[in-house]
Amino acid sequence: MPATVIVGTQWGDEGKGKFTDLFAGSVDSVVRYQGGHNAGHTIVTDGESFALQLVPSGILYPGVTPIIGNGVVVDPRVLLEEIDMLEARGIDTSRLLVSGSAHLIMPYHHEIDRLTERYLGKNQLGTTRRGIGPAYSDKASRIGLRVQDLLDEKIFTQKLEVALREKNLILAKIYNRLPVEPEKVIENYLGNYAPRLAPRIADTVSLVQRRYREGRQILLEGAQATFLDLDHGTYPYVTSSNPTAGGACTGSGLGPRQIDAVIGVAKAYLTRVGAGPFPTELNDAAGDLLVERGHEFGTNTGRRRRTGWFDLPMLRHAAGVNSLTELAITKADVLDAFEEIRVCVGYEVGDDYTEDLPYHQSDLHKARPVYKSFPGWRREIGGIRAKEDLPSELRAFLAFLEESGGVRVSRIGVGPDRDQFIEL
Ligand code: GDP
Ligand code: IMO
Ligand code: MG
Repeated sequence: MPATVIVGTQWGDEGKGKFTDLFAGSVDSVVRYQGGHNAGHTIVTDGESFALQLVPSGILYPGVTPIIGNGVVVDPRVLLEEIDMLEARGIDTSRLLVSGSAHLIMPYHHEIDRLTERYLGKNQLGTTRRGIGPAYSDKASRIGLRVQDLLDEKIFTQKLEVALREKNLILAKIYNRLPVEPEKVIENYLGNYAPRLAPRIADTVSLVQRRYREGRQILLEGAQATFLDLDHGTYPYVTSSNPTAGGACTGSGLGPRQIDAVIGVAKAYLTRVGAGPFPTELNDAAGDLLVERGHEFGTNTGRRRRTGWFDLPMLRHAAGVNSLTELAITKADVLDAFEEIRVCVGYEVGDDYTEDLPYHQSDLHKARPVYKSFPGWRREIGGIRAKEDLPSELRAFLAFLEESGGVRVSRIGVGPDRDQFIEL
């Protein structure tokens, strides 16, 4: 499998980091293709935990080239802090490369993200306030600064001036804030960040194409997930990039026919951070138990995640838009304590019943889930490594998801550690 995409099939935090790390051991390069430090990808090896925001989850292997692709938005301060954190923990980061075409998150992006959320009041999206949306907006408006601009003082200064003309008006006239001083930004970005990042800035598109031609294996690591996708997610409660598999092409520079496997990652239940529709949400003791057993607090922002039952129409939709070739189901162990496990098989919308994801936002908000119930297995599965040893109740649950979801379940996670998974 020369190029494989790993994509979240729900609302994020499915365990993409864990599975990327798992596959990274046998590949040449791992490319993050979109998002920014709104992501939090956790890898646990021998009980030691690494929470990554920008650095691809292949970093722990000495032979892998981790690449931050052109589709990512990069806050250089955060990236350098992450590099320092990894180096302090004995991880060699010398192979890490950043695309010169990736866009920079600037200080005013953070501020505008925070202010926009505040002014939205009760309609706020619950963004991570990391400046992601404003940075992608500037990219689309063609007033963004790119990583390669750090290498050219004149261009950087010129582009910053152009951007600040608009940003400082917005900050002053709309939000009554102090203007951003260009000198300070230049001092930080060109004085502090550029010299440290310069050796890592590369034409990563040519690099991945070259490596692909040489027959080397490339893993494309998605951040966020299908239902946070700007086009395919629950708009406007989405992120500002395309986590779906198509985004892996635009965000890395590989073409669609160069990708031969798309691995979806799903939790055995659902979580969501931030606002937006969530038909199977549980606001009861079962929901609390999922939070407690699954440690459902954001890797990145520490926010409590909303929890609910697995949603089959969502899986089928994700299988289609990502052309999934297989599915990894994580956190099955979190369900160990449940007597009954539910799966949403369709929705009632008004007087109608549908097994498709309601296309209209108003219908999705009103959709009442219809469940199929499964008996729980009521025993710990964290130590199991062979599929034959899995409880029959869990195998029945997985077989149903596979058959009704229309995608092969190839692996399940039975705990956070790197070796806590089972091949099916
Ligand atoms: P990502 O954003 O998709 O990479 O996922 P996160 O790292 O934000 O959240 C997933 C959380 O679940 C992390 O704390 C992982 O260590 C943990 N995790 C991953 N797979 C499993 C699993 O199979 N079982 C359990 N109990 N935890 C898991
Ligand atoms: P990983 O890669 C879960 C959510 C935010 C908010 C919405 C928009 O770890 O799965 P943004 O800051 O992107 O403009 O926020 O998207 N969100 C995530 N939720 N996991 C993530 O990343 C997320 N990245 C963004 O909570 O609802
Ligand atoms: Mg996460």
